[in-house]
Amino acid sequence: MATAPSTMEPVRPAFGTVLAEQMAVAVYRDGKWQPHELRATGTIPMHPGAHVLHYASTCFEGFKAYRWADGSINVFRMDRHIERMRQSARSLVLPEPDAAQLAAMVRATIDANRAAVPEAPGALYLRPLLIGTTPNIGAAATPATEAMLIVLVSPVWDYFAGGAKPLRILVDDVNTRSAAHTGRVKTGGNYAAALGPTLEARRRFKTDQVLFCPGGEVQETGAANFVLIRDKRLLTRSLDSSFLHGVTRDSLLTLARDEGFTVEERVFKVPEMLEWAKAGEAALSGTAAVLAGVGTLVYREQEYTVGNGQIGPITQALRAKLVAIQQGRVSDRHGWIRRV
Ligand SMILES: Cc1ncc(COP(=O)(O)O)c(C=O)c1O
Repeated sequence: MATAPSTMEPVRPAFGTVLAEQMAVAVYRDGKWQPHELRATGTIPMHPGAHVLHYASTCFEGFKAYRWADGSINVFRMDRHIERMRQSARSLVLPEPDAAQLAAMVRATIDANRAAVPEAPGALYLRPLLIGTTPNIGAAATPATEAMLIVLVSPVWDYFAGGAKPLRILVDDVNTRSAAHTGRVKTGGNYAAALGPTLEARRRFKTDQVLFCPGGEVQETGAANFVLIRDKRLLTRSLDSSFLHGVTRDSLLTLARDEGFTVEERVFKVPEMLEWAKAGEAALSGTAAVLAGVGTLVYREQEYTVGNGQIGPITQALRAKLVAIQQGRVSDRHGWIRRV
């Protein structure tokens, strides 16, 4: 990996742009998953009629392995992410990855790329990908019977370029980022739907992300969940099929409860969010973002400063607590860590 001379800050590649050398690949054929193999990260053979290229039969996961100070490598909430991948596959009627095989593929890929796992504050981002490969261009209403499961890994640092800077978020109560029943599925189509509105918002309002609030109900951004914090209370949307059930969200809610916060999981609307934000904190939660503070909300061409416009102290404290567990500096009371 490229680093500048030792007297300077290391040059860190943008999130996800550098892939480690080895990947694991397994094929689903004749009604079962075949044994996986490790290969050099590179191109895969793909028929132009492949189901995924026409009917978007694809889902993926994103989670991280951390190199601790003692040199060991530890994965955060691997079981949860594998379960979410299996849930996504079921929703899309794709062959479901076997949990034990996918865990073995993740372990094998980390093992093959040990030298590429950065020290803190970096991590190795783990990206399992499942695609339907059956060549059939008349299969809009027919599921793929052949599939490929790939585990890619990438050394990562900050997701939001600029690091710990308060985010500027457009509140969008017109567009949706997914069909109502596929919001909780981690599938490429949802990201494709969010991209246009996100770029348009960046162009018009210089915002970092769009907070989707279809029908005025606060949901999530294109790549992270959304939480409000005030007076020892934490508010976030209750789980339903309309948005991704973030593992970071679940972890932060658990830590907040441990700290004596009252956690409210319910549907809430834009005016209530703007009211909370006046004297509270807002943040985006996700594997990549961890917990990123929001400084400004832009709604119907008007700007609303969140608290004093800076990253809030509770946001910083919760983030620090989660990162300390992930990096092995605080003991893992909840059984979230798997050593590889
Ligand atoms: C749309 C969306 N929502 C929420 C999240 C947060 O999920 P997690 O905390 O499991 O990374 C992500 C990130 O992966 C995401 O892409």
